[in-house]
Amino acid sequence: LSNGSESMRMILIGPPGAGKGTQAPKIKEKYGCCHLATGDMLRAQVAAKTELGKQAKKIMDEGKLVSDEIMIGMIKSELDTNKECQHGFILDGFPRTVPQAEKLDEMLDAKRQQLKHAIELQIDDSLLVARITGRLVHPASGRSYHKVFNPPQKAMTDDVTGEPLIQRSDDNEEALKKRLGTYHAQTAPVTDYYRKTGIWRKVDASKEPGDVWKSLLTIFNESDKGSASGGLLGK
Ligand code: AP5
Repeated sequence: LSNGSESMRMILIGPPGAGKGTQAPKIKEKYGCCHLATGDMLRAQVAAKTELGKQAKKIMDEGKLVSDEIMIGMIKSELDTNKECQHGFILDGFPRTVPQAEKLDEMLDAKRQQLKHAIELQIDDSLLVARITGRLVHPASGRSYHKVFNPPQKAMTDDVTGEPLIQRSDDNEEALKKRLGTYHAQTAPVTDYYRKTGIWRKVDASKEPGDVWKSLLTIFNESDKGSASGGLLGK
């Protein structure tokens, strides 16, 4: 158990537009683990027009949260059955409530696993409107772009597949206000939950995506060094 090849097991916490979905694929590429984005999973249900999808679309467009029971079931099933998750995981959008955080601890305890990082992407609400209203997504892959900050090579087209990009139905100013209200009321306590552990770190997410990535790498390198020296440096 010595170096960076040890399994990654982490959560990314941050308000809508903080950059969770922008950074997570880079972490996945570096560590070869799975990236479980609960928002993407719910949107896949919406696209497939399942009963859950119909209910979830209404809740998401209102900026509220889908029930803990459903979300916990989704994550548990992925962690138990998704082969990619055998090499570790990045949870993006989960846990979003304290009961979800508690259940995650129980799930990992049962597997005799522990989280390595709980990273909070911190950014002022005022910067998020421009990020959210300019976002373009490729639904099949979850790749996201921005009209101004990260434009695709060809307008409204995914760089990799050439397929069309869309705007999410909850990416408007009105829904964002509600999502931010929900974040501060229900997800801020989750950051307090992890702040009490030794694995919580904060990152300034208002910087350029490349700088945010560098801050993440610093955290990972520090902890890899810690485990290489028998955990003495692990904080
Ligand atoms: P979800 O899909 O998780 O939405 P969210 O948390 O609101 O997060 P976003 O996807 O909006 O933000 P992000 O941080 O990923 O931003 P991104 O990197 O794309 O959830 C949607 C809904 O599903 C919830 O509202 C809820 O109803 C439900 N749900 C999901 N999980 C749930 C759970 N566990 N329990 C209950 N309900 C749940 O970046 C945004 C934009 O900014 C992009 O255009 C990007 O290009 C740009 N950008 C990114 N970084 C930078 C940067 N550093 N500088 C400039 N621009 C940047």
